[in-house]
Amino acid sequence: MRPVDLEAINRQTAQRLHDGEWDHIIYYVLQSTRFTNLPPIEPALSAKAWKEAGSIPHVVARRMSAFLTAKPATERHTAMRSMVQTAGQLRAQYERAMQFLYDKEWAPRSKLGAALRDHVAALYQTRGHSSDTNLSATYGVHTGLTVIRSMAPPNSIRRVLLIGPGLDWSPRTALNEDAPPQSYQPYALADSLVRLGLARTTSLRIDCVDVNPRVVDHINTFAQGARQLLLRYPRIDDDWNAYFDGLGKATGKRTGDTLEAGKAAAASIRALRMNILTERTAAASYDLAVATNVLLYFDDHQLGLAMANTAHALRAGGFFLHNELRPAIEQWSRELDLPTVHARTVRIDPTRELHDGVVIHRR
Ligand SMILES: C[S@@+](CC[C@H](N)C(=O)[O-])C[C@H]1O[C@@H](n2cnc3c(N)ncnc32)[C@H](O)[C@@H]1O
Repeated sequence: MRPVDLEAINRQTAQRLHDGEWDHIIYYVLQSTRFTNLPPIEPALSAKAWKEAGSIPHVVARRMSAFLTAKPATERHTAMRSMVQTAGQLRAQYERAMQFLYDKEWAPRSKLGAALRDHVAALYQTRGHSSDTNLSATYGVHTGLTVIRSMAPPNSIRRVLLIGPGLDWSPRTALNEDAPPQSYQPYALADSLVRLGLARTTSLRIDCVDVNPRVVDHINTFAQGARQLLLRYPRIDDDWNAYFDGLGKATGKRTGDTLEAGKAAAASIRALRMNILTERTAAASYDLAVATNVLLYFDDHQLGLAMANTAHALRAGGFFLHNELRPAIEQWSRELDLPTVHARTVRIDPTRELHDGVVIHRR
């Protein structure tokens, strides 16, 4: 591995976090219906309109003004409003966010297949860090854990490192404000482990690590509140439906689409601010590490750092479960003595034939 400038990576992470927080604000300004009656604007369409007009479209300016002047009535609006000092800042960040979206969605229209995939992958490796999370990511993790169950003795998972749990905040498309901000992954992971007989709630501890303090604070206060999560999911096939219909029942209480996370399960979860590229936990402390939709933000060199720090955290025989399928994973898994023991894809959206990766390494 080539020499590493940790300070430079920390500075770059801070900049990407800053950009990502602003991306969320811009997507919120464009899509929310809580501070204005104006119709939502799809951000990628706004990027095209902005590029073609060469200036901020009138409808966007009206939404910006409503965002700045309306009395905040939601947790998201209150938090985002407190981050914006001036209208000029909002305009400049709109233009930055739209340039990225234009480059991602419209500029590569002539590219096809692998060329398009490479173009989008390269953009992801420098873009702002999004905290957004989707419940569907928990299905790939559950599928991976069913494979781990065939390799690990019952109740042998006690300490888990969850890298980048995320928080449902303000996505690029389909903002839905029916529910307050939620983080699903830690509670779904605890539930899957108990449901599959891999862990007992009484001896389980999940340490979530994330660079975003908003995510860390949310998880650390969740256990003191009503511990409720609204689970929205489509019906797909028998395995998918069985997983989601049962989600939460091993460690909490399900009433329709609402999950009340169990007190003991919620108490077993804590969050810490940590950069997986530049920081390490104590050696050999975890039986399992999980990271979904995190590794795609790293270039191949940073991917090696993330995998090295994760390998360091795992005890001998411990598992690393993630959803990144690019070739550099294989190269690093060989160099770091973290062999891949299973890899597959699962279907998570039949209407768009969307698949998620499931990759398991064993220390
Ligand atoms: C897109 S979200 C994914 C959330 C969730 N894992 C999922 O699959 O839905 C990525 C998360 O990783 C976090 N993250 C990004 N870079 C990180 C790093 N270097 N170290 C730790 N967390 C990081 C982000 O702050 C964010 O919360």
